[in-house]
Amino acid sequence: MPATCVVGLQWGDEAKGKIVDLLSDRHDFVVRYNGGANAGHTIVWGDRTFKLSLLPTGVLKPQVTSVIGNGLVVYPPRFLEEVDQLLAAGVPVGKNLVLSDHAHVIFLYHMEEERLAEADAEGKLGTTGRGIGPCYQDKVGRRFAIRIGELLNPTHLRDRLRHIVPVKNKLLAAFGSTTPFNADKLCVEYLGYAERMRSHIGDTVRILHDGLAAGKNLLFEAAQGSLLDVDHGTYPYVTSSSSLPSGIWTGSGVPARNVTRIIGVVKAYTTRVGRGPFPTELDDGPTGIGERIRKIGREFGTVTGRPRRVGWLDTVALRYTSALAGTDEITVMLLDVLSGLTELKICTAYELDGERITHFPSDAYQLERCQPVYETMPGWSEDITTARAKKDLPAAARRYVDRIRELVGLPVSHISVGPDRVQTITE
Ligand code: GDP
Ligand code: IMO
Ligand code: MG
Repeated sequence: MPATCVVGLQWGDEAKGKIVDLLSDRHDFVVRYNGGANAGHTIVWGDRTFKLSLLPTGVLKPQVTSVIGNGLVVYPPRFLEEVDQLLAAGVPVGKNLVLSDHAHVIFLYHMEEERLAEADAEGKLGTTGRGIGPCYQDKVGRRFAIRIGELLNPTHLRDRLRHIVPVKNKLLAAFGSTTPFNADKLCVEYLGYAERMRSHIGDTVRILHDGLAAGKNLLFEAAQGSLLDVDHGTYPYVTSSSSLPSGIWTGSGVPARNVTRIIGVVKAYTTRVGRGPFPTELDDGPTGIGERIRKIGREFGTVTGRPRRVGWLDTVALRYTSALAGTDEITVMLLDVLSGLTELKICTAYELDGERITHFPSDAYQLERCQPVYETMPGWSEDITTARAKKDLPAAARRYVDRIRELVGLPVSHISVGPDRVQTITE
């Protein structure tokens, strides 16, 4: 059975959650394969809003099996908090949510390590503070990492923490920390979490392989955006996992050949949270277009509440990421946010050191020196939030979407004109 992947083609927050929610009706499994609670996916159903950081968006539908794959890093209290929030909201969560025993555990010392590293002005990346980077460092380093399955064996966990915590305390002290962690206390705390998580922990690789063999439909939900991918993004201003669909194979155990439909989610403009180059950024002050888009689009981070940096659409970046992701089709999201602007700009090329280029430069330091080359298009004044077919859109809005299709070179399958699941045009 073919599987589908929904992936963001910018720097995250492209509204992947909304598209995954729409598609989850037709899927048996929704699978997260990368990242952790650094993600923030918002889903709106009428007057109900759900914000998910760690749990797959499929968890809102009890008939869907939601899988947290082996590629994730999981902070147990966050997992339990999200489950409790859903239960309190009347969403049943039980056997439909499975967490890989091979996912890695985030401990408090990971967050402390991140906090201290981010306090250094020079090394600061503008991370979400969720312990993501330090936990992945330990995963790849192998010696000091703990996987979810290990939380289920008390003696083993105590021995591992007694070995790891003194090393972490030395490292944290070198960074300037004065409060050491206690291995036995941490052990008791995490055993408590594990007890509550036990019924969700399983061998997700086998579950997914069995699902494939039984002809079930799988939907992969990327976290972060392709430009935050650790290998292909704007390194070092990236996250620590593979957010591109290349992360599916390692992060879930499902081979790439099973993923036959890749949907690239694109915001009608661009946003970025945290540090790093952003050629089309609109830094035009409190009365400028950037601030207007931020207000109308409510561009504040779901996880940290930070104002998102805002800019024009960048099709140089989109051609790069859509090729990397193997994208079949794109969706244009938050188009309504651009209503009321007289003119819209689309970046079609960059000027780099006096030369015009149409490819995405291979390093972030070159990207920092790139000046955007814009094409200007007329805007529209109408409110488009009630449009349900392309013909309902003003001609200028249709032209804007058509131009994106031409410049990126891929069909547009969905246009989103508001946060609610019904505010969607399917082409
Ligand atoms: P994700 O991380 O890619 O899932 O995206 P986020 O949920 O972090 O950010 C997208 C935001 O835009 C959320 O607040 C959504 O509710 C909202 N949203 C989604 N689609 C639309 C749209 O078409 N118009 C508007 N105005 N908001 C939208
Ligand atoms: P969703 O899934 C936007 C950014 C952070 C920071 C960088 C590294 O909602 O699109 P990290 O905590 O991952 O080490 O931070 O990545 N970042 C995101 N930006 N959306 C996200 O997720 C993000 N997840 C991480 O702001 O710049
Ligand atoms: Mg988000």
